Amino acid sequence: MDTFEALYTTRAMRRVKPDPIPEDVVQRMLDAAIRAPSPGNTQQWRFVTVTDRDLIGELGVLYQRSWEQLEATAYAGRREQAEARGDTVTQRVLSSASWLAANFGQVPLVILPYVRNDPDGSGIYPAVWNLMLAARAQGVGTTLTTVLHHFAATEVGEVLGVPTDKGWRNVAAITCGYPLGKWGVAARPPVEQVVYADRWGEPPEWSIPEPLWSYEG
Ligand SMILES: Cc1cc2nc3c(=O)[nH]c(=O)nc-3n(C[C@H](O)[C@H](O)[C@H](O)COP(=O)(O)O)c2cc1C
Repeated sequence: MDTFEALYTTRAMRRVKPDPIPEDVVQRMLDAAIRAPSPGNTQQWRFVTVTDRDLIGELGVLYQRSWEQLEATAYAGRREQAEARGDTVTQRVLSSASWLAANFGQVPLVILPYVRNDPDGSGIYPAVWNLMLAARAQGVGTTLTTVLHHFAATEVGEVLGVPTDKGWRNVAAITCGYPLGKWGVAARPPVEQVVYADRWGEPPEWSIPEPLWSYEG
């Protein structure tokens, strides 16, 4: 696959089929993940790949509860506000995120990256993104989720037998599966709205009204 196709179309693919992902496909995702940079090349990472149905079911219960907690706190009123201002993008994200919460137990593979000696957890995100791009290149959809470790980190550690006393800390749960829907280019406001030239607030001299990569070319 063209690198730019992977970059432009690796989306939050929450709605996935329950079909298992072949082991060689998962191996390529993990082997690509560990090629990523890490601070000082310390590679203080571990990846727990969960396919056991009972374990995913247990994580699913925790995920649903965590999502409900998010909706009751940081996300409170978001759905109503999005409806009131006709913001269909946010409405779609929320309904897709609710779908994942309700169906987490049916996801065929969840990968939980762990870090240690990395205060803000940022050292593993290049590896996480490598993993997601390698999944995309093989037709596997992924979603980077964080609600679980925000609301249920201790319970998740217990379910998976993580030696948290040795400093291992979960930073995400990546759901993986073959998409129910189609791939598409992520819609975003034009890039010039978030880029400054030389000094903060100075707009660049160019504008890019449409994505520079598209299926039509
Ligand atoms: C750090 C981070 C945390 C996220 N946490 C969640 C999450 O807990 N649950 C979820 O459904 N999506 C989560 N997402 C996915 C975002 O909602 C998604 O990337 C965003 O809506 C853009 O979607 P798109 O790439 O399909 O356009 C997270 C994404 C990032 C980068």
